Amino acid sequence: MFLPLFLVTFLLSGGQGTPVRSRPEYQTDDYYTYEEIQNYLKGLAESYSNQVKLTNVGKSYENRNLTTITISNGDGRKDKKVIFIDAGFHAREWLTHTAALNIIDKLVVSFEENKHLLQDYDWVILPLVNPDGYTYSRSGNKFTNEIIDCLFAYTKDLAVKCWRKNREPNKHGCIGTDLNRNFGHGWGKGDSSSDPCQPTYKGLSEFSASESQAVRRVLLDLANTGRCVLYLSIHSALGEILYPWGSEEIKAENYKEHEEVVQAGIDAIANGNFQFPSTYKQGPSHSLYVTGGCSSDYAYEAGFPLSLIWELPEERGNLTFEFHPPTNLIGELVEETWIGIRAIAEKVMDKY
Ligand SMILES: *[C@@H]1O[C@H](CO)[C@@H](O)[C@H](O)[C@H]1NC(C)=O
Ligand SMILES: *[C@@H]1O[C@H](CO)[C@@H](O)[C@H](O)[C@H]1NC(C)=O
Ligand SMILES: [Zn+2]
Repeated sequence: MFLPLFLVTFLLSGGQGTPVRSRPEYQTDDYYTYEEIQNYLKGLAESYSNQVKLTNVGKSYENRNLTTITISNGDGRKDKKVIFIDAGFHAREWLTHTAALNIIDKLVVSFEENKHLLQDYDWVILPLVNPDGYTYSRSGNKFTNEIIDCLFAYTKDLAVKCWRKNREPNKHGCIGTDLNRNFGHGWGKGDSSSDPCQPTYKGLSEFSASESQAVRRVLLDLANTGRCVLYLSIHSALGEILYPWGSEEIKAENYKEHEEVVQAGIDAIANGNFQFPSTYKQGPSHSLYVTGGCSSDYAYEAGFPLSLIWELPEERGNLTFEFHPPTNLIGELVEETWIGIRAIAEKVMDKY
């Protein structure tokens, strides 16, 4: 990928000879690396200092920053409700980070057309929960848009590209904790492994991983302010939007509200201007399989009245790509995701 424009601190000449620094432009031609994501966020914070604030909310096992971007309309009001979005819990889910960056771009750079979404709400976005795992998953042979089937990750290179967990070593030589099995709600239940060599290893104890601790801090901080409304965690690749509970076979008390806001997103995508729109399904997350230790159950319990897992699609038209969509599809996939999330946000703002 070319260096993002803002890295080159061009000073362009403005109308009256005033220097205007070029602004970050989100590119969908390839998946950003961790460094590119961080630089993109920093560029926004410099160019839009009135609307954007970056916060390092923790560090990964390998000492990378976990950085949230808080987006407002810059009016200084402190009592707004909050939508919190994260992405990239699972290393190989490459489309999730870039979908999160597109949301950021829409709210900051394309502010004018989306400013109604920032009237009474601030958005907090953590685009990369698991930077170590993600960086590892990008460390193999160059991705050449080949179709990768992670169920049959027989080669060393496929095992790298299909990596799921963080990169913290475990006692018996195997590496990594599944961060979305490490939360303190229903920890260890269902589809969750006690074997440190398995992809769904739950960790030594609840919140043993620094990355899940960081997400917990953000969730609890927001819950304590009483401003939290929606938590949305972006994963792939099932093409489903799921609500609590995951760790028990019961539906969230307000499942009807969940279903209503989710349906708004599904309909917006179906009615969007796409040749092969994704046909999302929805339901309680246990309908997939019972899973303990997930962030979405934890957030719901902590006080977010709406808590969703957004599972991006694994196919487009007749092409099934699972976790690694070819780069030429990034643009339309993240655009479609934005249309769904925007519709959900509008519905949420009507009701809460
Ligand atoms: C983390 O953020 C701090 C503060 O912005 C910065 O000084 C440091 O270089 C960052 N670390 C990494 C690994 O990028
Ligand atoms: C898949 O769809 C594309 C675009 O519609 C088409 O060109 C191609 O022939 C299809 N391939 C298969 C195997 O059906
Ligand atoms: Zn996932």
